[in-house]
Amino acid sequence: MKVLLLGGGGREHALAWMLRQSPTVQRLYALPGSDAIATLAEPIAGDPTDASRVAALAEELDIDLTVVGPEAPLAAGVADALQAAGRRVFGPSRAAARLESSKIFAKEFMARHQVPTARFAACAGAAEALAALDRFPPPVVLKADGLAAGKGVVIAEDRAGAEAALADLFAGRLAGSAGQRVVIEECLRGEEISLLALSDGERWALLPPAQDHKRALDGDRGPNTGGMGAVSADELLPPELRTRIEREIVAPVLRGMAAEGHPLRGVLYCGLMLTADGPRVLEFNVRFGDPEAQAILARAEGDWATALLSVAEGRLRADLLRWSPQPAACVVLASGGYPGSFATDFPIHGLEVAGREAQVTIFHAGTALRQQHWVTRGGRVLGVTARAETLAAALEQAYAGVEPIRFEGMQYRRDIGRRALAWIAAGARI
Ligand code: AMP
Ligand code: GLY
Repeated sequence: MKVLLLGGGGREHALAWMLRQSPTVQRLYALPGSDAIATLAEPIAGDPTDASRVAALAEELDIDLTVVGPEAPLAAGVADALQAAGRRVFGPSRAAARLESSKIFAKEFMARHQVPTARFAACAGAAEALAALDRFPPPVVLKADGLAAGKGVVIAEDRAGAEAALADLFAGRLAGSAGQRVVIEECLRGEEISLLALSDGERWALLPPAQDHKRALDGDRGPNTGGMGAVSADELLPPELRTRIEREIVAPVLRGMAAEGHPLRGVLYCGLMLTADGPRVLEFNVRFGDPEAQAILARAEGDWATALLSVAEGRLRADLLRWSPQPAACVVLASGGYPGSFATDFPIHGLEVAGREAQVTIFHAGTALRQQHWVTRGGRVLGVTARAETLAAALEQAYAGVEPIRFEGMQYRRDIGRRALAWIAAGARI
């Protein structure tokens, strides 16, 4: 089949790598892709959020399956345009994508379908939000309603901090227009785990669980980022807990979306807090996470392209979704200054040596080729990924892969997976 991949980050490099291993993929195109993705797919210049252009391109190239990586094309209605043109697409409609693109939609949807989540108030203005704050003793969580690339969430330790964050959100200083409406919610405590499902709108199949590392610095300190590393290991969720999450969260969400006329075709990503009172939803995404995808897809085996096509066709073939029992880990190497401002175009050294390790795969998130040398081009630059017999071994391999790599200002966390190892060692119980 001919496949068109939308996006150009680390997650899309991993998707391209996975699609390339599928025996059924004859041609693979990427819009816009990246220099790294161009080693696996034919790049096409253009804007992946331009819905009519994507649909026209799919016609022109006679694409059998379009795989959407990031959220922006989904929120822009790219899947709707492809469906209207009679083209298969892995990724939900704009209406279904509201689970991610509007936190207020997601919270009210969960309330309608009794999906466990933090107690909340949805506020359309500063006065309303200040009044609602009385009902949420600190620490309290404030979230911009719209897409904010990870910058729209503040955990305020006291009332003054909450008021300052609300002022910033409503003035557009924190998350631009995404903060015109705000969700206030109780702060939950527990282990944070991501569980993803592929769904054709009716049926679903769970993927192996993952854990992200959102904060910039070791020990979960510093500002929130897009993700500084991820692990995927079956032991993160023992079978009873996994089944409970499927029953209490995944099933009612997917059935609820179908019942409301917006079946979700693609990925349902549940960001969960495993609290002492049970699993609670922190957020939904309608795409693979980045860098969770790098860790999860490092475990993919078999013909995932045909599996993704079966999702797009509304006849999910869970039997095709096979993955290795071996855990995987991805360590993100970022530019100095990320998630704030950073300089780019620094040469990256040591990639060839790092890539020589059999167990290590290096996914490029923000790089470019300049006169045959890789240079930095983004905040997150590389995702050094490894799979091994145990999670500890996968982490060791990934860090061994990091060792030879150097670029000016390079920063990364030294403690990826440490939390997961402790959680698993303690029995992964809530
Ligand atoms: P979100 O974009 O909604 O996933 O929020 C970003 C991060 O903020 C999450 O990954 C959590 O670490 C944290 N967070 C979000 N909501 C809550 C909450 N209700 N309680 C505690 N932490 C939260
Ligand atoms: N790593 C978090 C996300 O992709 O949303």
